[in-house]
Amino acid sequence: MHSFLKGEFDRQRDGFELIASENYVSTSVLEALGSIGTNKYSEGMVGKRYYGGNEWIDKIEGLAASRAKKLFGVDHANVQPYSGSPANQAVYFALLNHGDKVMGLNLFFGGHLTHGWKINFSGKYFDSVQYKTGTDGLLDYDALEKQVKEERPKLLFCGATAYPRLYDYKRMGEIAHAVDAYFVADIAHEAGLIAGKAIPSPAGHADVITTTTHKTLRGPRGAMIMCNGEPSNPLKPLPKDADPRKNLPTLIDRAIFPGLQGGPHNHTTAAIGVALGEALRPEFQQYAKQIIRNAKSLSETLIDEGFELVSGGTDNHLMLIDLTNKGVTGQEAEDALGLANITVNKNTVPWDKRTPYDPSGIRIGTPALTTRGFKESEMKQVGILISSTIRNIKDKEKIEGIKKSVMELCEEFPLYPDLSY
Ligand SMILES: Cc1ncc(COP(=O)(O)O)c(C=O)c1O
Repeated sequence: MHSFLKGEFDRQRDGFELIASENYVSTSVLEALGSIGTNKYSEGMVGKRYYGGNEWIDKIEGLAASRAKKLFGVDHANVQPYSGSPANQAVYFALLNHGDKVMGLNLFFGGHLTHGWKINFSGKYFDSVQYKTGTDGLLDYDALEKQVKEERPKLLFCGATAYPRLYDYKRMGEIAHAVDAYFVADIAHEAGLIAGKAIPSPAGHADVITTTTHKTLRGPRGAMIMCNGEPSNPLKPLPKDADPRKNLPTLIDRAIFPGLQGGPHNHTTAAIGVALGEALRPEFQQYAKQIIRNAKSLSETLIDEGFELVSGGTDNHLMLIDLTNKGVTGQEAEDALGLANITVNKNTVPWDKRTPYDPSGIRIGTPALTTRGFKESEMKQVGILISSTIRNIKDKEKIEGIKKSVMELCEEFPLYPDLSY
C-alpha cells in the first residue's frame, strides 16, 4: 500500500491536474484528516450524543459548523454528510416522500447523478423530470419556468458537474417558489468560488444548499448541508402538524442521523473545520479569483488554438471542450493527454451525438493548478501543451517530449515539499 501511495504522490506531483472537481489540500488539512478523530463514535449532534466522551468532538464539530455558517452566511450547517451524494440523498429524505416529483439538470447536459438520473436512487425512488440547456450550452430560464409550471415538482435542483457559467439563483428560486417547490442549490463545484466571494452565492435564494468540501473549497472529501432557521432537539421527531418549511434544520439533521448515517467521521469533520478556517482568510479570496482568471486565460488560449468551447468560454473554474471539429473523441483526448502527464476527464457536451462512455468532449478545470501557484502565463503554456498533444495525438515521440515540458513546469511549482514517501 505504501508503494502505491508513493506512486500516486509522484503522479500528483509530476503532472498537470486539470480535473475540475479535484484540488490539493493543505498539509494542515492532511494532518487533521490523519488524526485520532477517526477513533471516536459520536452519533447525534453537538451536545446531544448517544455515546460518552464526546466533549472534544463537540468542540471540533461545533467549530467546523460555526465556520461554515460564517463563510456562507447561513443559520445552520450540518457538517456530517459522508460525501456529496449522501448529502443530496439526505435532502430528499428530509423534504420528500417516496415518489414525489423532482427536477434537476440532465446528466448529459452537465447535471449530477443525484439530481434525478434514472439509474440513481434519485431517479428510481422519485418521479424525476430533467431539464436541459439550449443548443448554445446555456440554461434557458424561460424554458425552465415553463417546464416547472407544467410539471409542478416538489423540489428543484440547481447545480452541475460540468456547467461553465454562473447560475441565476434569484430567478431559479422564484421559478421554484411559484409552484411551492423547494429550491435546492448544490454548489459542490463552486463552493470555494462562493466562499472566496469570486462569484454570487445562492444564500438568501435557496431553501437548502448542499456542497462537497473537496473541490474548489479545498478541504477533505466530505460534504455539508446548509439552511436557515434554528434546529430543535434533533433526537426528537417533529410533531406531525409541524410546518416543514419552518423546520428545515431539524429535518436535515434528522435525515442525516438517524435517517441515513451512523457515526460521523470525526477526522474528516476536523479537516473540514481546518479547510473552512483557511477559506475564511483573505488569501483564499485571492485564490478564488485567481482560479477564474486562470480559467479565462486557459480558455482564451484554447480558443486561439482553434478549440470549440461549450458556451464560448467560462465564468467559473471549468470549461468544456467539444472536440468534434478536431476529429478526436473525448476518450482519445483523455488517453493522449494522460500519456503527457496532463490529467483531464472525458465528458459529454450538450446535445452530444456520442454516448457518455465515449463522448465528444473533455472537461478541464483550474482549481488544482491554481493551488500549485500557476498564474495566467503558465495557463497559456498549459493550453499550448494541450493543443500540441491533440495535434500530435498519434505521435508517441512528440507526446513524450510534451510530457518532459509538463514535468519541467511542474518542478517550478513544488507540491508538498515537506512531505516524503
Ligand atoms: C454537483 C455535484 N453534486 C454532488 C456530487 C457528489 O459528490 P461525491 O462524489 O462526494 O458523492 C458531485 C460530485 O462530482 C457534484 O459535482
